[in-house]
Amino acid sequence: MTEENQPMTGPEAAPRRIAELRQQLEYDNYRYYVLDDPTSTDAEYDARFRELKALEAQHPELVTPDSPTQRVGTTVQSDFAKVAHAVPMLSLGNVFSLPEMQEWGERATKFLGGRANFEYVVEPKIDGLSITLFYENGVFVKGATRGNGIVGDDVTANLRTIKTMPLRLRSVEGQPIPTMLEVRGEVYMSLKAFEKLNEELAAKGEKLFANPRNSAAGSLRQKDAGATAGRPLSLFVYYLAQSAGGPPITTQYEVLEYFQQLGFRVAPNIRLCHTLEEAEIAVQEWLKRRDSLDYEIDGAVIKINDFKTQEQLGYVGRDPRWATAYKFPAREAVTILKDIDWHSVRRTGTINPLALLEPVSIGGTTVKSATLFNLDIISNLGLQIGDPVIVKRAGDVIPNIVKVIEERRTGQEKPLQIPQFCPACGAPTERRKDSSGGTMPKLYCTNPPSRCSGQMKDWIFFYAAVMGIEGLGERICHRLYDEKLVRDFADIYSLTKTQLTALERFGEKLADKILVQIKASKDRPLANLLMALGIPQVGSKAGEMLAGYFKSLAALEAADEETIADIKGLGKVAARSIRDFFANPNNRSIVDKLKAAGVRTVEPEIVVGDSKRPFAGQTFVLTGKLLDFTRPQAEELLKKKGASIGSSVSKNVDYVVVGEEAGSKLAKAQQLGLKTLNEAEFKALLSK
Ligand code: IVH
Repeated sequence: MTEENQPMTGPEAAPRRIAELRQQLEYDNYRYYVLDDPTSTDAEYDARFRELKALEAQHPELVTPDSPTQRVGTTVQSDFAKVAHAVPMLSLGNVFSLPEMQEWGERATKFLGGRANFEYVVEPKIDGLSITLFYENGVFVKGATRGNGIVGDDVTANLRTIKTMPLRLRSVEGQPIPTMLEVRGEVYMSLKAFEKLNEELAAKGEKLFANPRNSAAGSLRQKDAGATAGRPLSLFVYYLAQSAGGPPITTQYEVLEYFQQLGFRVAPNIRLCHTLEEAEIAVQEWLKRRDSLDYEIDGAVIKINDFKTQEQLGYVGRDPRWATAYKFPAREAVTILKDIDWHSVRRTGTINPLALLEPVSIGGTTVKSATLFNLDIISNLGLQIGDPVIVKRAGDVIPNIVKVIEERRTGQEKPLQIPQFCPACGAPTERRKDSSGGTMPKLYCTNPPSRCSGQMKDWIFFYAAVMGIEGLGERICHRLYDEKLVRDFADIYSLTKTQLTALERFGEKLADKILVQIKASKDRPLANLLMALGIPQVGSKAGEMLAGYFKSLAALEAADEETIADIKGLGKVAARSIRDFFANPNNRSIVDKLKAAGVRTVEPEIVVGDSKRPFAGQTFVLTGKLLDFTRPQAEELLKKKGASIGSSVSKNVDYVVVGEEAGSKLAKAQQLGLKTLNEAEFKALLSK
């Protein structure tokens, strides 16, 4: 793009440049927000935006409402003006099962005399709020909410801030721009944006939104459109209410394609189906997709494709006969918070509240409890024992409480007590943010694990789970601790059959099975062991990296903080945590017990044939800084593949790997005519 550098002179320069910038910025917006495929860098976009703003400031008479600069929002002083909908904004009838969907199809067929052969379009039913948008000669002029379907609120200024909404329609080659177009769609907030917004509100101590739909509605109805601009809303369109002067369009499927050509966003995966059976499959697909989407859908909409047929079918009351909403099972239900259980103390010291609920069925599953994540959630919800609450269960996610229905309180609710002492060991509790960089405060036991039965029990279970000891579930681990057979996880290895069978309801078979499993766990990869130790900051990924680098527990124990911190992807915090762990005498004694028990603490040398050692007999020299590897990592990878690593450049060297800021070695390599590899070429070679 060179247009920024073109000299601009003469009286027409400003208007021309303004038009050019607007066109480019609209295009950038379209590529970025609608197609998700930007063709300009952020910096280029910003530069254009700044230039346009500056020009508009110099020439205020040239500012128009469709300028990209106007997306930032203006303040509406009074209440929203009312907009009467020329075409009423109707609702949809519902079906809840495939047989009901069949019946809907049969009713439509019957209505047309029994011989209809429909095509259907299946779309997701976006759970947002419906809006209508007016364009005159291709320019967005007005937008309104649904209101009561007949009269809505004028939210034009707020809508302008939605980056996925075109302020000006894209012209479609060979087709006239409609002189008038009214398009309907759904404004929604993505799940990610919703969670981020709630986190921000929580940090400010403000009330949270119960769900993305509420937050979209609340955000769109901000009196100050500048505030709406800060709330990332999105838009999908799905309905042509009226148009004049555009190309002739005769079906819903064509309309959706046309909308896309005009620069609107249309939901993905929209299917054109030739039978109701096909439509049913498309509906089921949406149900399966539901949990992986970044926005909420509450069903699928099935529409008869052909407009003429739609017209013949008409409406019953406020619902079209030509479309229906297949509603998916609810994800929310209202129930009562009976109590909060604070007994779950985790190995990291967190005391996690569990909401105990009056059992309620949500989408076919009975829900009895919900997580509360952290203390801010509790105080933001304003929870009291006995409260009527809305509980949400989505997919496999543990249910959570989204809202207290204050209007339904009886006055009998009791304030909630946050425990001042650890329910397991009695040590004082404290609120703090978790060490992994989380932003929300949690409740912690102030004792170290060695002095808190709750932490220790969970640690034992964690070790058993990571080392894959089948049969040693949470309940048994806790029991072994309570029976004083195991005080820490290394004691697992000294359990005997007599001890186990002495436990109530512990048969010989079970004892044998568990002992076999325990024995097998002595031979797990070093990476598993490192993770199972429960060192804060060392999860499965760090475990792999440490095992790959040090090859033995002893080498890691002996390493200094700097060496560990230098391993790419680990960093100082993890290095410090590892050092602290091994400096602790309790931990050392556990580790010693593991070693004495014969737990494998050394990675076995993998013996590979020459085919797996493609660089056998070749010498590599590395120089400069690589971005994705530390020097030891790169050398390690090469050695694994059979290469030898040289320290200086000579004619006996086969490859010189050249990182950033390479010095004299590179010059020498070039002088000798050796083969050099940049980082990308090096990676490519490694992956062969
Ligand atoms: S068509 C005359 N298509 O669902 C029919 N509606 O319960 C116009 N909705 O008010 C609506 N996704 O807010 C249609 N793909 C979709 C939709 C959709 C969500 C909403 C819309 C409407 C409500 C009807």
